[in-house]
Amino acid sequence: MDKFLIEGGHLLEGRITASGAKNAALPAMAASLLTDQSVTLRNIPRVRDIGTMRSLLDELGVDSSIKHEEHGNRLEIQARQLLNPVAPYELVKQMRASVLVLGPLVARFGHARVSLPGGCAIGARPINLHLKGLEALGASVRMDHGYVEVRTDGLRGTTFNFDTITVTGTENLMMAATLAEGSTILENAAREPEIEDLANLLNAMGASIEGAGTDTIRIHGVSSLHGAEHPIIPDRIEVGTFLVSVAMAGGHLVVDRAEVGQLTSVIAKLGEVGVKVRANGPHELEVEKDGTLCAVDISTQEYPGFPTDMQAQCMALMTQAEGASVITETIFENRFLHALELMRMGADITVEGRRAIVRGKTPLSGAKIQASDLRASASLVLAGLAAEGETVIDRVYHIDRGYERIEEKLNRVGARIRRFSD
Ligand code: EPZ
Repeated sequence: MDKFLIEGGHLLEGRITASGAKNAALPAMAASLLTDQSVTLRNIPRVRDIGTMRSLLDELGVDSSIKHEEHGNRLEIQARQLLNPVAPYELVKQMRASVLVLGPLVARFGHARVSLPGGCAIGARPINLHLKGLEALGASVRMDHGYVEVRTDGLRGTTFNFDTITVTGTENLMMAATLAEGSTILENAAREPEIEDLANLLNAMGASIEGAGTDTIRIHGVSSLHGAEHPIIPDRIEVGTFLVSVAMAGGHLVVDRAEVGQLTSVIAKLGEVGVKVRANGPHELEVEKDGTLCAVDISTQEYPGFPTDMQAQCMALMTQAEGASVITETIFENRFLHALELMRMGADITVEGRRAIVRGKTPLSGAKIQASDLRASASLVLAGLAAEGETVIDRVYHIDRGYERIEEKLNRVGARIRRFSD
């Protein structure tokens, strides 16, 4: 099991490149199930979750091939036929985004048997709204020994309103509706950029979708979809993580192949803290730490609000800011696991339910700590950059799920991170 040994106190200086967004690539891979023709995805990030999704497609009997390119991988997928419409527990428990095959399988083949994902470190992660939406489209849903069995003789368009805004729920139903008879309206839909990217792919495949990126999405069903080639958007959370890394370690970075417009809430919040972020055009950001950081309150919201996937990284940042910061996690019920590890490094944090109070500035000292989930791991790496002495982070497989060799990218701009295993 790999670990990181981080030597704190080194300024970051230079240029760092964003990879493709894991949370755009995963639904795009699932979307390839909607056609028997070849779908080519580019700018695919080299992260573990992509490998897990490929294993799942392989399990379903779907061919895929990958080719290394300068920016990310090129992934070709062709779901000519389906040998086995089952997403097994062994894979789904590794990655709950496996549930994204549900909508496409039901729409194309009329049947899917997907293990219930179960909870994870950050919360219960139910999929009740995915299932309620598929029922509204005319599918039958049955629970069976930890699996959900979904069948239909043909999906029919409907109007469906989400009780709670759900990113993968919106993606699953948008994909399913592309092959439904008639039109579907999704109300109170998630507005994340990854949803807009998925709609762009689906429309390139012959779907007819309007309004993706807003809270109301209209899908006009078509009889079949064809192949397409599509570049995955940059990972806005990876970019946000790099912006915070400079605020923690000091220095100056240029982040390229970014999508500046997707980061307005993060850039605005960092500006309040006193981190100087400048856009050099729509795809490049320049960031530097310039003097004292001041504590700000943060409340996570659905897009375009402040992203929950940046909360852990900013909690680490608040330990280095002067004053008290109140962080409210409105999306997930248990997303403060990183607080306990930051406290072992010297942070002053009080957690009360979905609210955490960070009192800074407290010097951080290197310690042996443990990663618990993807973004919590990122916050611990950031804390290690700022800490005095050496930090050892265990279970870095969590971070490899969503960051492409983060230690290589950061070492190229001055960090000292060594990956090793017992
Ligand atoms: C997506 O997860 C992302 N994952 C998450 O990123 C991200 O944190 C999250 O959206 C919120 O932005 C992918 O895109 C693969 P939700 P998702 O459904 O879709 C409740 C990362 O770090 N809910 O939007 O699973 C749910 O409990 C990951 O890359 C229901 O109640 O999140 C939560 O409280 C972590 N019923 C809220 O909605 C449902 O049927 C938002 O969850 C579905 C969701």
